[in-house]
This record gives sequence, C-alpha cells and structure tokens, in this order.
Amino acid sequence: MARRHQLREAVVGLDIGSTKVAVVVAEIAGGQEPSIIGLGVAPNSGLRKGVVVDIEGTSRAILQAVEQAQRMSGVEITSAVVSVSGSHISSLNNRGVVAVSRPDHEITGEDVHRVLDAARVINLTPDREVLHIIPREFEVDGYDGVKDPVGMVGGRLEVEAHIVTAASASLQNLMRAVARAGIVVEGLWLSSLAAGEAVLTPAEKELGVVLVDIGGGTMDISIYDRGTPWYSVVIPIGGEHITSDIAVGLRVPLPLAEEIKVTRGVAATSMAGDGSFELPNPSGRGSRQVPDKVLAGIIEPRVQEMVSLLAREIKRSAYPGILPGGVVFCGGTANLPGLTDLTADLLDLPVRVGQPGGLAGLNDIVAGPAFATAVGLVQLAGRSAAAAVAATGERSQPAGLWSRLRNWLEELF
Ligand SMILES: Nc1ncnc2c1ncn2[C@@H]1O[C@H](COP(=O)(O)OP(=O)(O)OP(=O)(O)O)[C@@H](O)[C@H]1O
Ligand SMILES: [Mg+2]
Repeated sequence: MARRHQLREAVVGLDIGSTKVAVVVAEIAGGQEPSIIGLGVAPNSGLRKGVVVDIEGTSRAILQAVEQAQRMSGVEITSAVVSVSGSHISSLNNRGVVAVSRPDHEITGEDVHRVLDAARVINLTPDREVLHIIPREFEVDGYDGVKDPVGMVGGRLEVEAHIVTAASASLQNLMRAVARAGIVVEGLWLSSLAAGEAVLTPAEKELGVVLVDIGGGTMDISIYDRGTPWYSVVIPIGGEHITSDIAVGLRVPLPLAEEIKVTRGVAATSMAGDGSFELPNPSGRGSRQVPDKVLAGIIEPRVQEMVSLLAREIKRSAYPGILPGGVVFCGGTANLPGLTDLTADLLDLPVRVGQPGGLAGLNDIVAGPAFATAVGLVQLAGRSAAAAVAATGERSQPAGLWSRLRNWLEELF
C-alpha cells in the first residue's frame, strides 16, 4: 500500500493495459469504501496481446502514470495492486474435500485453508502457476449452498473453487516491469475480475452475467454465477485490430485510423448515417470523400468476429444457466456506438455498457468504461485493507505475496 497519507491509508490500483497504464489512488478511512483522490494515465506500447514484451517501455509508462497520480493525490506511491491479462490465462472449476479436524466437528478457518489446498491440486505444467483460487460454494456433510462454513458443525467439508492459472514467465515479466518502476506489487488480480468488481451489480453476479472488457489488445471475459466467477478467459483481439483494419481498408496511417474510428466509427453498416468525411489521398495529392457507411463496413466484420468469439467462449464454458444478467461490456472499445445493440441482436441477450461508478471522492475523473479495471483494483484493495484492519486491529505486515493473495481471496469471496 502507499505510504500513510495523514492518518488515513491510501490504496493504489495499477492497470497495465495494451494502450495505456492507469493508476488510481484512493483513500480509505475506517472501513469505508475507498474514496478516489488521484489518477495518472500514460500511453503504453510495451504489451502485445495483454502480455509485457518490452519491460523497459512498460516501466517507463508506469513511472509516468505513477508520477501524475502522485502529483494529483499528494500521496507517495510505493506499492500497488496490479492487473494481469493475456491469452496465457486459463481457468477451471475444481472440487476439494477434507475431514473436519476438530473433535467437536466445528469447522475452523484452518479447515477452509485445507479444503482450498485440496481443490488446488490440479495438473499444471511446470511453466504455469495458480493465480487465483476463489471458493464458489462450500458443502458441509453433503448440504450445498454454504457461503461461509466457519463456525458450522459437520464431518466432511467440500468446496467448489474457481481456479485461474497463468504462465509463470508472463507474470514474472509483468512484475519486473512494475519493480523497475520502483513499485512493490501488493497483489495481482486478473483484469476481468477487477473490472467485474467495478461495473457489475451484486444481482447480476448472483443471477449469471458475462463481463467482457474489450481494450486495445485483448478481450477479457469472466462469467459470474451465484455471486462468484465461473469461467475466465482472455482472447487476444481488441480495439487495435479494428484500428488496423481501418488503416488497411482506407489506406491511412494508424494514428489517423484511430482518430477516424473514435470520432466517426459505428459497429454496423445499418447504424451508419448517410454522411461522409474527407481524407487525404494515399498519394498525398488531393483528397477524397469517404462515406460513413464504408467505414462502418470495415468495422462490422471485426465486431462480428469479436461477438462470435464471445459466443464460442460462453458455449465452451459449459455454463448451464441462461445468463439473465446478459452481457456487460467495459474497456475503451465499449465506447463504440452500436456495439451493445449489435451484440444483443447476435446473442439474443440483454447487453449494457458498465461504467465504473459509485465510489466516493473524485469519481468523475475515472468515468468511462476504460477505467473499470483500475477502479476495480482499488475497490478490491480497499476491501482487503479493511478486512485486515478488522482482523488484527491494525494493518498486517507484508507476508509473502502468494500467501497474502490467498488470504485476500478468502476474505473477499
Ligand atoms: N469511441 C470509441 N470507439 C471505438 N473504440 C474506442 C473508443 N474510445 C476508445 N476506444 C478504443 O479503446 C481501446 C483502449 O481501451 P482500453 O483503455 O480499455 O485498453 P487497454 O486497457 O489499454 O488495453 P487492454 O485491456 O486490451 O490491454 C483502444 O483501441 C481505443 O481505440
Ligand atoms: Mg484494459
């Protein structure tokens, strides 16, 4: 966590994305929701498909964003909770079972640790590791639907857990980039799970909902049900693909293609108006008029591809329910006009854009779906800090990263 800010505590979310690094600083006081006091944003080109490929470049972007956030908040940032993405991410649900250890059969926190350790036993190649193990539901002597078994009496404790795994090398390169910027990694969170914290309602998570964060380089998907994650996956396609399609289709350089997309783009030809815009000819001599429908015609196939990849993942997840919460989009590409309507038509589900909102303080500076992950990170960090205060009366001293992460997850879900 960041250094003490007067008598209060600050928490910092560091979202390392394919197009930008975002740092959100929030203040927490007395177990309350975090209150936003600062933001820093810097362009980043050190990632490919959500994974750090340029440590030096990424750490420069982190430094720039951190310095901006420090100036705005007045907090010296020394550590942060960091987002993880990339197509190396995979997930599964697994079960674990243990015998309750106390002679009087009262279930303790220790039994919960042991049963989660039992669920953690999965086949992993040596180059991969467990990023999250999130209890979805406990079962005590065959009675399911138990959210918190501590204090209950029973002989046999079972858990169903959502397990997210990641390539160790990708995690290490991410942590190196953060370390090189002089920041201690306080915790790692899968990007879509952080975004889900910021934009989903408890009812959506309970009923069944698909969170889809479409940024520049990746589409991060998490399906929630009964309040917890059920399926998580990252697809290496994002808004940058739309931009490069426009660059190729209209024969313009990438920065101009990006500008055209953001100012005039819509998701489907049927949604484009009859207007047009002027572009220089590729030869550099003279100009041409490009109808908005032509631009939309370039964007539409890529958006359709994204939606069909989403449909494929929903199918692959083998989710048995009907997803009454539908699809909630976030990430910068959620700003594309018509994306929600097109997706609703193609998937026959309710679709909305999730705005990270509802926090106290300077909430308006993090408005917009592109800040969902960064805001979710400070919400998760804030809750973890509050839980630590409640448990010990003071902030716990840093233990090993992984054991702290484990404690967090047990506190949060
Ligand atoms: N109005 C808009 N219409 C279409 N696309 C937009 C719009 N506004 C922003 N975008 C796109 O959003 C993308 C950036 O989103 P975001 O900031 O969520 O990405 P990121 O977090 O850096 O990347 P990732 O999460 O994929 O690693 C860019 O491709 C940008 O072009
Ligand atoms: Mg992102």
